[in-house]
Amino acid sequence: MLDPMTTLARWITEAEEAGSPSPRTLTFSTVDASGAPQARTVLSTRVGAEGVRFHSSSPTAKTRDLRHDPRSACVFFWPETGRQAVLHGTAREAAVEESVAAYGTRPRQLRLVAWAYDDVLREAGGGQADQEVVSADVAAPADLVAARVAVHAQRQEPLPMPPSWTTVDFSATRVDLWEGVGPELAARKTRFDRAADGTWTATEILP
Ligand SMILES: Cc1cc2nc3c(=O)[nH]c(=O)nc-3n(C[C@H](O)[C@H](O)[C@H](O)COP(=O)(O)O)c2cc1C
Repeated sequence: MLDPMTTLARWITEAEEAGSPSPRTLTFSTVDASGAPQARTVLSTRVGAEGVRFHSSSPTAKTRDLRHDPRSACVFFWPETGRQAVLHGTAREAAVEESVAAYGTRPRQLRLVAWAYDDVLREAGGGQADQEVVSADVAAPADLVAARVAVHAQRQEPLPMPPSWTTVDFSATRVDLWEGVGPELAARKTRFDRAADGTWTATEILP
């Protein structure tokens, strides 16, 4: 059985070839401490058999949510190819070494923004950007973040990774691959469920 994550990676490539301006962008959902769903847009930097990876700052709502409940979902939609992928599974923050390795590969502007966020989070935490201390969304006027970015842009040395920068790795246990098969025809949805041994079973379901 073909791994649906391999198909997902191919669908991203095909969306890009079809002119999608941001084929790696997805909606990432978590569950907060009260059990309420939370969703936001993120940009994946790796999609494949190992799962979906993106980068963020911590603590933010998503990293707080994941620490108390790793259950999460991802939704990709590509209007250019008439496809969507809906993934359910769990996510966790990767080891810090993984983030250090990835940080250097990110565009400079995003590395600067990460430092600006680090400043704001640490100030909110009285010197600590810590999950226990910064336990709610942080107020931050846009011009404050822009000013911090400008300060860090002056730095000449290679930027090290800010301590609050993190990597989130999502691993799917269920993948629904949905595609329209023509304007007058019904869509097709194939559900892939992953067994404990890692193998996938596929079922066509009502789209
Ligand atoms: C196109 C787009 C891409 C984004 N990519 C990311 C990303 O890769 N990582 C991230 O943490 N936030 C990203 N954001 C910002 C998030 O949507 C969100 O506002 C932020 O992560 C805070 O979310 P939270 O408070 O729910 O944790 C992106 C927003 C947009 C519109």
